[in-house]
Amino acid sequence: MSESWWRTGAIYHIYPRSFQDSNGDGVGDLEGIRRRLDYLAWLGVDALWISPFYPSPMHDFGYDVADYCGVDPVFGSLEIFDSLVADAHARGFKIILDFVPNHTSIEHPWFRESRAGKGGKRDWYIWRDGAPSGGPPNNWLAHFGGSAWTFDEASGQYYYHAFLPEQPDLNWRNPKVREAMFDVLRFWLRRGADGFRVDVITHLIKDEGLRDNPHNPAWISGRPEIEQLLQMHSADHPEVHGVVAEMRAVLEEFDDRLLIGEIYLPMERMIAYYGEDLSGAHLPFNFQLIEAPWIASAIGDLIEAYEAALPEGAWPNWVLSNHDRPRIAARVGEAQARVAAMLLLTLRGSPTLYYGDELGIGDVEIPPGRIRDPWALREPGLGVGRDPERTPMQWDSSVFAAFSTREPWLPLTPDWPKRNVAEMSADPASPLSLVRALLDARRAHRSLSRGSWRRLESCGDLLAYERIHEDDHKIIVLNFGAAAQLWPVPTTAPKLTIALSTHGDRKGEVVPATLSLRADEGVVLDARKD
Ligand code: GLC
Repeated sequence: MSESWWRTGAIYHIYPRSFQDSNGDGVGDLEGIRRRLDYLAWLGVDALWISPFYPSPMHDFGYDVADYCGVDPVFGSLEIFDSLVADAHARGFKIILDFVPNHTSIEHPWFRESRAGKGGKRDWYIWRDGAPSGGPPNNWLAHFGGSAWTFDEASGQYYYHAFLPEQPDLNWRNPKVREAMFDVLRFWLRRGADGFRVDVITHLIKDEGLRDNPHNPAWISGRPEIEQLLQMHSADHPEVHGVVAEMRAVLEEFDDRLLIGEIYLPMERMIAYYGEDLSGAHLPFNFQLIEAPWIASAIGDLIEAYEAALPEGAWPNWVLSNHDRPRIAARVGEAQARVAAMLLLTLRGSPTLYYGDELGIGDVEIPPGRIRDPWALREPGLGVGRDPERTPMQWDSSVFAAFSTREPWLPLTPDWPKRNVAEMSADPASPLSLVRALLDARRAHRSLSRGSWRRLESCGDLLAYERIHEDDHKIIVLNFGAAAQLWPVPTTAPKLTIALSTHGDRKGEVVPATLSLRADEGVVLDARKD
């Protein structure tokens, strides 16, 4: 089996509005990312996935694309993109772009033409007459609240949008749409993109008859409106796998490129996105750690089930946080976030790290006047806002944490003078030092980057597993609890030495017959036959 870069490398996810501002407008940009490549090399990640930076009216902060082959002036220009790619490649980084094929911006020229019924583009989007009894064509709801249909006075029809009314869905059943979008992929692949994370890939094909979605009997008031219905006919249609395979075939026209799909589905249906004979996504994003309760046995069970369900030859992957879900430290607390980092970086498969998690950024309170996320503004009071996980990166204790020279678009954490790269890189016990040490260990030990995975016996708050590659053998023991724990070393185990603790100490300690772990501590153990 060939060893592609994305199997062994760690992916670092950058939300470009919030990584580094280079022109003093309070919003991050591509030149800012270019200037921080030294940091990323020091940290030890291998690939950078950059959320959308294309021209956009920013109703959904770039996930509403008005031109697939450009760069929004707020983020830079195509020339700056080229220099970012050149510099990143020169340092050995891969660049993964965010491809948003399900919908365009309402301002995209295709939609303007479609709306006006000109240029034969009417059928590039999903237009329907209203229901005979009045109102929208069916009961489908938009992800950010309200009906998924908006009426267009001029043409007397409704158009479909799975997200905001400013994000009309493309009609992927139209071969012309497919061709145009595949050309977009080729445009960026020729410009040096090493891969794509495909936004809401599960949504591309909808039920042909647009049947109503069934009601969700488990919905309770206080949950987002979209959850009132089961997305049975609006997403995860069996024909979507054909489209994913076509996308994959476009990538295969180039050398060693990566296709990732954003997929929030139960495990079996998510795994189907590897495609028949692995003709689909290389990595259907595995969000199980984002969704699971933080309980050692539950996490152990899901890892085992995932490992067992993977098709022959499929490569696993793991994600802990992203720009749509509360950060890991906000969910499980800062102490457990270290355990989570150790888990993410010692499981089998490609890990995706979210910028700022290495600083242990947790929940950031967003004052009402500073809320920017359209979902939070449309469905207030439900706690669906995504601003807390999108706050600026904190570099040092100078003004605005050196993210910008002016007030950033979202607030910093209140403790930014201490919670920043400069301070934390000097502290061997910081979460930043831990993440760096774990990335270093992944590179240094084939057991961690390539080895097999097997769960070991443990109980209560402990999760133990081993990774083996030839004679390189590591055992990982994680304490998911806030009390000290003992782990009886299996009698068959070879001599064990602590290689790494989440607390930044104990390196070299020889493990006696019983390993003692402090509260919220995880360790990587070196197992030696001699
Ligand atoms: C994806 C993105 C999210 C965006 C949505 C609509 O889920 O990750 O940020 O709002 O798609 O494009």
